[in-house]
Parts: sequence; structure tokens; C-alpha cells
Amino acid sequence: MATPDQLKTNTPLLRVTGLKRYFDVSEPLLNRLLEGKSRLILKAVIGIDFKINRGQTFALVGESGCGKSTVAYLVVGLYQPTAGKIEFDGIDVASLTSRAQIALLRRRMAMIFQDPYASLNPRWRVDAIVGEPIRAFGLLKGTQAISRRIGELLTQVGLSPADREKYPHEFSGGQRQRISIARALASEPDFIVCDEPTSALDVSVQAQILNLMKNLQKKFDLSYLFISHDLAVVRHMADRVGVMYLGRLCEVAPVDAIFDSPLHPYTRLLLDTIPDVEMTGRATQPVAGEIPNPIDPPSGCAFHPRCPKTTDKCRREGPELTTLDSGVQVACHAISAFSEK
Ligand SMILES: Nc1ncnc2c1ncn2[C@@H]1O[C@H](COP(=O)(O)OP(=O)(O)OP(=O)(O)O)[C@@H](O)[C@H]1O
Ligand SMILES: [Mg+2]
Repeated sequence: MATPDQLKTNTPLLRVTGLKRYFDVSEPLLNRLLEGKSRLILKAVIGIDFKINRGQTFALVGESGCGKSTVAYLVVGLYQPTAGKIEFDGIDVASLTSRAQIALLRRRMAMIFQDPYASLNPRWRVDAIVGEPIRAFGLLKGTQAISRRIGELLTQVGLSPADREKYPHEFSGGQRQRISIARALASEPDFIVCDEPTSALDVSVQAQILNLMKNLQKKFDLSYLFISHDLAVVRHMADRVGVMYLGRLCEVAPVDAIFDSPLHPYTRLLLDTIPDVEMTGRATQPVAGEIPNPIDPPSGCAFHPRCPKTTDKCRREGPELTTLDSGVQVACHAISAFSEK
């Protein structure tokens, strides 16, 4: 029989099941009544399932508006799900009721945002920014101990302890993202949601920040939900990848399978947009065709208007995410038909 410790390690750190988030984007009731318009619901996330194992990075990739940030906000509790379950360390987060349990969950999950300019309070010194989680979660008592810890955190992210005296505007974009990372680490999390953490940065700086994040992951056994529209970055960071299209996952696979043997026509299309995967910084081309409006998505498979393999079935029926013998998950009628043969 498995010991409690073994059970713990076998449980994924994060498991998301049937996660949905809809937004009511209707006009105000009176306008609707006067203009005879109906209610409009935007389905940003439509039933997503994935898990993240301890010490691993799961990347979500897809074009703008496919729902990546919405998933991030749901996972860290900034949005409430319309439906579905989020389990962290085997516990359904919706079942937590006591303040202490919720605080512990918040401490163990941190988030890094795309824009370090917007996510750091410009009126606070670095000292206050990085120290805030330490104080909020009561991790250390006493000014000296907190100050020592802030110095240690700044050193861990490649800044100087003396930087604590400065304000965010005194730093470059890359340094500001280092401050965000120090702040994320301050609560001693085991899980960090990184929403496009380097897409606002120059390519040379991007690589430094990504390497820092990988080193910190190893050092502190961190698990990442890593969100990016850039497959080159994803290849560098991820263990497993979920490709999103209009609120759904269309392929979930280990990173090598995504790059060496992509199955879903959308994954293939995304791969065609990276001129070379070694992150040379050359501009990527957009994926051919237009992203449909999520308020009025296409019938059947949402990808069918852009798909080279579309059949009548694709126009009628949306494919389910199916697990193949290889363990790769894919939602495509063409591929399910092929694998059933
Ligand atoms: N608070 C909100 N109210 C209404 N609609 C929203 C809200 N948040 C997101 N949406 C819509 O949900 C869809 C998914 O948005 P989301 O920000 O999750 O996409 P994304 O994949 O992160 O895109 P990007 O790559 O541009 O950051 C979009 O159509 C967006 O307009
Ligand atoms: Mg986003």
C-alpha cells in the first residue's frame, strides 16, 4: 500500500476539471429592452481539464483572446468559475471555508503578470513591494528579520540588496520583472502562475528572465503554469503543453511531442509561425485566417473555418478531447478517426 507521502507525491499539485468561465457582456437591461437586443454571453473558457505535476511546468499556448489569462485568474482565485473544479494538492479549493485554510492556499500560489510596469505599485519602494507578502502572511516577525529576508530575495533574483531603497521607475523592464519574481517568491510558494512573464521584454532580456525562472524552479522545486502565445518560449520552459483555441484545449502533450509530432491542425499552424525555434528574435508571422468572435463562435469545431482538413462533420459537431494510446490528448475528428482505425 502506498504511504501517505507517496500518495502526496503521486497527486498532481494542480488539477483542473471541467473548468468554465462565461462573461455576461450584454448591454444594460433598459437598452436591451428598448433596442430589442438579447443577452450576450461570452464563453471565455469552455470546459478545460489539465493537471500539473510537482516541479513541472505546464504551458498554455494560443492566440490572443483564446482564454489563457482567464484560466490563470481562475486558478489563482481572482475569478470565480462558472463551473468546474480546481484541486490544489488534492484539495478542492471551493471546499475551503476557514480563513486560515484560504490564507495558506493563497500563500502557496503566487502569480507573475505580463506587465511589470502595471503590476508593481509605483509609489512603493522595492522594500515594501517585496516585503508585503512576508508581512501579510506573517512569515517573519521583526523589522530586522524581514529586512534580511528582502535582501536575500533580491539577491536570489539577481538584484542587489541595496535596490530595496529604490522605486520601480528606477529600474529597466527586465529588472522590474525580477522585482515581481522576488515578490512572488516572498510568500514561499510551491506554485507560480506566470502569465506572459516576458512578452513585454526585449528578446535578450527575455532569455535572462526565463533562465532565472528555470533556476529558481530547480532550487525551490516550484511548479509553474506558464502562459505564452510564443511557442519558442514555451519550448524553452515547458514539460507539457496545452494548446488552446477559443476557450478549449485542442491538444495536450509533452513538449517534445508538440514540436516533433504535432497532431492537431491548429498546433501545426501555430508551429508554422515560428521561423526558427532557437529564439533568434525574428518577428513571427501571425497564424493565417482570422480568430472568430467568441461571442458568436463557429458551429461544430470552432477551428473549422481555418482548418485545412475540415469536413461536414467538423461543421456540425465539436470534437471531444480524446486520449490516444501515446497519452497525447487531441480534439480533432480527423485524428480520432485515424487513431480508431
Ligand atoms: N472580465 C471580462 N469581461 C468580459 N470579457 C472578458 C473578460 N475577461 C476576458 N474576456 C474575454 O474573454 C476572452 C478570453 O480573454 P483572455 O484575456 O483570457 O485571453 P488571452 O488568451 O489571455 O489573450 P491575450 O493573449 O490577448 O492575453 C476574450 O474574448 C476576452 O475579451
Ligand atoms: Mg492574456
